[in-house]
Amino acid sequence: MIWGLFLLLFGNAVCQYSCPQKCLCSLLLTDCRFANLSDIPQGIAQDTETLFLNENYLTQVPPGILQPLVNLTFLGLSHNKLSLQNDTFDDIGRSILALDLAGNNLMELPPALFRGTKHLVWLNLAENRLAVLDGKIFASLERLTYLDLSQNRLQLSVNMLMGLSQLDTLMMAGNHLQTLPAGVFDPVPNLKILDISNNEISSLPDNLFENLTNLSDLLLDNNSFKKIPFSAVKILPKLEHFSISGNSIQNIPPLSVIGESSLRRLDLSNNLVSDLPLNFFSVLRQLEFLSLSGNNINALPGDIFVHNTQLAFLHLDRNQFHTLPIFSGLQRLKELRLCCNGIENLPRTFIDKMYELELLDLSNNNITETKGLDSNTTQIILTGNPVCTNSMISKTHC
Ligand SMILES: *[C@@H]1O[C@H](CO)[C@@H](O)[C@H](O)[C@H]1NC(C)=O
Ligand SMILES: *[C@@H]1O[C@H](CO)[C@@H](O)[C@H](O)[C@H]1NC(C)=O
Ligand SMILES: *[C@@H]1O[C@H](CO)[C@@H](O)[C@H](O)[C@H]1NC(C)=O
Ligand SMILES: *[C@@H]1O[C@H](CO)[C@@H](O)[C@H](O)[C@H]1NC(C)=O
Ligand SMILES: *[C@@H]1O[C@H](CO)[C@@H](O)[C@H](O)[C@H]1NC(C)=O
Ligand SMILES: *[C@@H]1O[C@H](CO)[C@@H](O)[C@H](O)[C@H]1NC(C)=O
Ligand SMILES: *[C@@H]1O[C@H](CO)[C@@H](O)[C@H](O)[C@H]1NC(C)=O
Ligand SMILES: *[C@@H]1O[C@H](CO)[C@@H](O)[C@H](O)[C@H]1NC(C)=O
Repeated sequence: MIWGLFLLLFGNAVCQYSCPQKCLCSLLLTDCRFANLSDIPQGIAQDTETLFLNENYLTQVPPGILQPLVNLTFLGLSHNKLSLQNDTFDDIGRSILALDLAGNNLMELPPALFRGTKHLVWLNLAENRLAVLDGKIFASLERLTYLDLSQNRLQLSVNMLMGLSQLDTLMMAGNHLQTLPAGVFDPVPNLKILDISNNEISSLPDNLFENLTNLSDLLLDNNSFKKIPFSAVKILPKLEHFSISGNSIQNIPPLSVIGESSLRRLDLSNNLVSDLPLNFFSVLRQLEFLSLSGNNINALPGDIFVHNTQLAFLHLDRNQFHTLPIFSGLQRLKELRLCCNGIENLPRTFIDKMYELELLDLSNNNITETKGLDSNTTQIILTGNPVCTNSMISKTHC
């Protein structure tokens, strides 16, 4: 009787503190990453809540093997060679909250894979080879807030997001999206972050984002847009970050507005913009970061930034400026990048009212003298200008 009790306690202790070979364990966590495993190991402590099996050679999750882990909440299986069945996650469905399946070369998902994982809040399916997903594959994931489908081969079908009523982040960068079907976002009214950069999108249906009143980050970089899809983006009351770099945008129409009262970060870099409408930035009173790097701009209206009193980062490098634009209104500026233009003259004291300026990059221009350009608090970069090769002048900022 006493012996039996001893065994019971001892057995329990062994079980609690067991740690598979090649793994590292600490309280409630078993870490078997980079362990060259081709099978899920025996002897994982039953109280494990976080299990990392990432970066191995696993090909399957045999039925029953995870069943003892009744409190498992995070399961990392990324970068293996898994194939999945309808019932693969049935054993852990009651407890699992986060599942990482990135980088498994998955070409499709069994239609009922997520039927039991109703509590899932975080799901990563990035870096696979998914091309089509069953219309209702996510329908049971009513609590999911984060879904990463980046770096696959997906088109977005109209029903794909059905059921994801709590979704706030959707990552779909690096797929084969050409457009997005109208109504595709109806099931996800709480979406805050949408990343569809690095696709092949050239236009979006009118009012596509109409019902996404909470959208704060919209990333459209590296697509095929020839103009900013204003009819889709102008109606977003909480948009804070809009990024459409690396497209072929040429003209920005007058009276066009994005995120009038909320926009903080605007990235229009690496496009073909040569002119900006006079009032383009004047309503963006909250703007803190603006990049126009890598366009064809050679002049800006003198007071274009006069209302952007919050602007701290202004990137105008790699354009066609030959004279310095006038910067009135930018008293909060911390960083001004003007590299790689053809700027020849610096107006005296042009940074005098930028009391918070920390970095002024004027490298690779055509500047021959720097009278009046001095500051004790700003890092000034002048490399690649004639002033730096002229041996008669002091090379303070070269
Ligand atoms: C995995 O295999 C590689 C190459 O065979 C070896 O260098 C590495 O030490 C192994 N890692 C573990 C944790 O056994
Ligand atoms: C699972 O968690 C509950 C609540 O924290 C705990 O009482 C129980 O002992 C745990 N089960 C295992 C097998 O560790
Ligand atoms: C997986 O589930 C789907 C939908 O319930 C079903 O149609 C399919 O036959 C199942 N696949 C297998 C291999 O059982
Ligand atoms: C937005 O919601 C309304 C009301 O549910 C619906 O009629 C409309 O089609 C939705 N708009 C889009 C673009 O899905
Ligand atoms: C948007 O955010 C607010 C405040 O966080 C929240 O109450 C609301 O339910 C969210 N969803 C929609 C569709 O407005
Ligand atoms: C766009 O593509 C360029 C060149 O391939 C790459 O350097 C850049 O990081 C991409 N931008 C984003 C936001 O992915
Ligand atoms: C630099 O300026 C000089 C005259 O001030 C001009 O002849 C030359 O073409 C300019 N170089 C470049 C690269 O713009
Ligand atoms: C830099 O500091 C020196 C000594 O503190 C001062 O005399 C000079 O006026 C300052 N220059 C500028 C541009 O603030």
